[in-house]
Amino acid sequence: MAPNLAPNPLRTYFEKNKVGRGIWKWEHYFEIYHNHFREFVGRDVGVVEIGVYSGGSLRMWRNYFGSQSRIHGVDIEEACRVYEEEGVRLHIGDQSDRAFWRRFKQAVPLLDVVIDDGGHTAEQQTTTLEELLPHLRPGGVYLCEDIHRDHNQFAAYLSGYANHLNFQLPKPGVHLTSAVSNFQRAVYSIHLYPFVGVIQRCRQSPTEFVAPKNGSEWQPFL
Ligand SMILES: C[S@@+](CC[C@H](N)C(=O)[O-])C[C@H]1O[C@@H](n2cnc3c(N)ncnc32)[C@H](O)[C@@H]1O
Repeated sequence: MAPNLAPNPLRTYFEKNKVGRGIWKWEHYFEIYHNHFREFVGRDVGVVEIGVYSGGSLRMWRNYFGSQSRIHGVDIEEACRVYEEEGVRLHIGDQSDRAFWRRFKQAVPLLDVVIDDGGHTAEQQTTTLEELLPHLRPGGVYLCEDIHRDHNQFAAYLSGYANHLNFQLPKPGVHLTSAVSNFQRAVYSIHLYPFVGVIQRCRQSPTEFVAPKNGSEWQPFL
């Protein structure tokens, strides 16, 4: 991917982070983050990153989303608890453990942003998606990192999700009209990038899809 030279506060923060808590990211992710996350900057948002490692990315998110944001870090390693600070809470657990997520969801209100940068196995990524996608607020964004290589099972799972967006059930009427499935009521869009998948929840659920024809001149063949 060619580097995008437009100002990006996340990339700037990362590049300046030469000493102190470590951050480990693929460089091309910063553009993807900023494209999908910028609308949440400066707002009272709930953000979770699965995969804390050396704590630097949690500080980066807090710096980016601002002082009203509530950042949650999840990691399997007890050692990561030391990164708890103002605006940043730590939750120690295994992202493939559904009982852990049940407890997490009881303790943490609905979220706006999920970033999965944890263990990166398909099982972990799938369980986390199934548990946290319903825990996103309307308009929330779910981002999963490090989907690598051919025949990746999580990539196949996401493609299945994408297929659900194409559900169509025509309704009788003047216009071409389709009923809306539960999936289409919940998921607005799915984006695939190198190593990254992004799912955006509907801000407002559609009640039907309609394709009206406007104009007075039409070819006879259709
Ligand atoms: C790539 S590092 C995270 C990097 C960090 N987000 C950053 O940007 O610097 C992956 C982290 O995921 C954690 N991890 C691995 N398996 C996990 C699991 N099953 N549940 C939760 N965290 C896990 C590891 O302990 C490690 O700290």
